[in-house]
Amino acid sequence: MMTSSADADHGAHPILTASHITKKFGELVAVNDLSFTVERGQIFGIAGPNGAGKSTVYNLITGFYPFEGRIDFDGRDITGLQPHRICQLGIARTFQIPQTFPSLTVEKSLSVGNRFGAPGRFDPAYVDEIIRFLDMQAIRRQPTGQLNLLGKKKLMMGAALATRPKILMLDEPMAGSNTSEIKDLMAFIRRINEDMGVTIIIIEHFMKVLTELTETLLIIETGSEICCGDPVTVTSDPRVIESYLGDAYADGN
Ligand SMILES: Nc1ncnc2c1ncn2[C@@H]1O[C@H](COP(=O)(O)OP(=O)(O)OP(=O)(O)O)[C@@H](O)[C@H]1O
Ligand SMILES: [Mg+2]
Repeated sequence: MMTSSADADHGAHPILTASHITKKFGELVAVNDLSFTVERGQIFGIAGPNGAGKSTVYNLITGFYPFEGRIDFDGRDITGLQPHRICQLGIARTFQIPQTFPSLTVEKSLSVGNRFGAPGRFDPAYVDEIIRFLDMQAIRRQPTGQLNLLGKKKLMMGAALATRPKILMLDEPMAGSNTSEIKDLMAFIRRINEDMGVTIIIIEHFMKVLTELTETLLIIETGSEICCGDPVTVTSDPRVIESYLGDAYADGN
């Protein structure tokens, strides 16, 4: 769980606030008048059925599309800013499908992230720090194409961390992973949160991961909020069980 100093900050300082955000693709309302607040230092989870609008929320926060409503980050309105500006201000993300540049080495890949986060202020010592954090010193000159899925996922998170984010947004980081890889990734995400002090937003289908990892959980369906709160309360909410989790979950199966 959180350190006591981070706990002391809770409630007082939202780091990200989405206010009435709506995104339409033609007739389709992918995100529908959604509002939520992420507190500084927390792990905030988002879940919901396929096509609920979860990845689209990330695309709005990171400036990929114009939208209705407003998003505030770290005390300023970031609505309408370009993706590279939003990244430089301190929001980094990973994508649902793991992608690395296969011919680039581990070190080069992280350097690209570092340059993207702060153009003109490349910091090799910080890249070294990330390599140590990833425990990839021995393979720093290996092309990323040689990494296994777990390694690729950690490298993607490392490249995002190399931009020096205040928030790291993960889109289904557990997808395709087995039980031991999931354990490993959960511990890794906790270290990013606690040791590096980075606020985390995580989209995930594995409910057990969300209930163990997050302090606040937002459930959405067809772009709208169904329920938001602490994970124990949210996962026992009848609306959430009915629309998303199903009766098997309610019975403890
Ligand atoms: N660029 C786009 N153009 C048109 N429709 C889109 C676009 N991006 C997403 N959509 C649609 O918006 C809806 C929400 O998609 P989104 O990818 O946000 O869902 P999701 O909750 O991330 O789903 P999943 O769990 O499958 O990843 C879907 O109906 C999707 O087809
Ligand atoms: Mg998605």
